[in-house]
Amino acid sequence: MNVMTRPEELEACAPAGTFVETVTKVTHYTDRLFHFHMTRPAGFRFRSGEFVVIGLMIEGKPVFRAYSIASPSWAEDMEFFSIKVPDGPLTAHLQKIQPGDAILMRKKPTGTLVNDALVAGRRLYMFSTGTGIAPFASVIRDPETYEKFDELILTHSCREVAELKYGQDLVDAVKQDEMLKEFFDSSKLKLYNSVTREPYPFKGRITDLIDTGKLFKDLGVPPLDPANDRAMICGSAAMLKDTKALLERAGLTEGANNRPAEFVIERAFAG
Ligand code: A2P
Repeated sequence: MNVMTRPEELEACAPAGTFVETVTKVTHYTDRLFHFHMTRPAGFRFRSGEFVVIGLMIEGKPVFRAYSIASPSWAEDMEFFSIKVPDGPLTAHLQKIQPGDAILMRKKPTGTLVNDALVAGRRLYMFSTGTGIAPFASVIRDPETYEKFDELILTHSCREVAELKYGQDLVDAVKQDEMLKEFFDSSKLKLYNSVTREPYPFKGRITDLIDTGKLFKDLGVPPLDPANDRAMICGSAAMLKDTKALLERAGLTEGANNRPAEFVIERAFAG
C-alpha cells in the first residue's frame, strides 16, 4: 500500500485544517506497543491530558485516529504511545514510521482527563490499562498537577510484564530529572503496576485490586473517600465502565470540563 511519508509531498496535499509534522524518534517496546516523538506545530496549544487526531495519507486518502498526547503542555515536541494492530487501518502503517517521516495532525485538541475537570482534593488516582497510560504520561509532568494534589498515584495494569516498561521508564525518568525537580516535587508521585496474564508480584485487574482493598493496603493509604480522593480513568470501554462503578459506589461523582467533580474518564482509543 502506498503511504505518503515525505514531508514536502504531504504538505502539497494535506487536508484543510491539518498540520504536517515530522517524526523525530521511535521506540518499540513490545510487538504490540510503540512510542514516538514528533515536532510540535508553532503556536499549537493544548492542556496536559488532552488528545488530538493524527493520521497518515494512505492510498491517497487521509486515515485518522484519536491519540492521547503523552507529552506535557510545556514540552517542545509531542509524544504518543500506540498499539500495533496488524490489520488496523492506521496502526498497521503507523507502526512502520521512521524518523524523518511526516504525519498529519488535526488542529483541535480536546479531552476530559485534565486538571480543570476535577475539583481540588488531596490525592489524585490515575487508573490506566495498556496504552491508557498515555494521557497520564502528560499529566504527571505538569507542575499544575503537583500544585493541586498532595499525592499522585498512577496505576498501570497490563496483560504482560513487558508492557509495563514504558510507564516504569517514564516514572523513573521523571523522578531522576534534575530540571523537573525545580518545577515540582516528584516524590509525591507513586507508580503501582499490576499484570493479569503472567506471574508478577502484583497480580490482577485494577478493578479487583480496588474491590478487595488490596491496592490501598499495598500503597498504605485509606480506602477511597470522596472528601479526599480524585481520579482519572483511561482504558478499554469495559475497564472504564467497571472502574467507574467502583468509584461511584465509593461516593465519587463524575465530572466534565463544564462541570468539574471528583473523577473523569476517557476511552483509550484502539484500532
Ligand atoms: P485481562 O488480562 O484479565 O483481560 P487490553 O490489552 O486487552 O486492553 O488489556 C489491558 C489490561 O486491562 C489487561 O490487564 C486486562 O486484563 C485489563 N482489563 C480488561 N478488561 C478489564 C475490565 N473490565 N476491568 C479492569 N481491567 C480490565
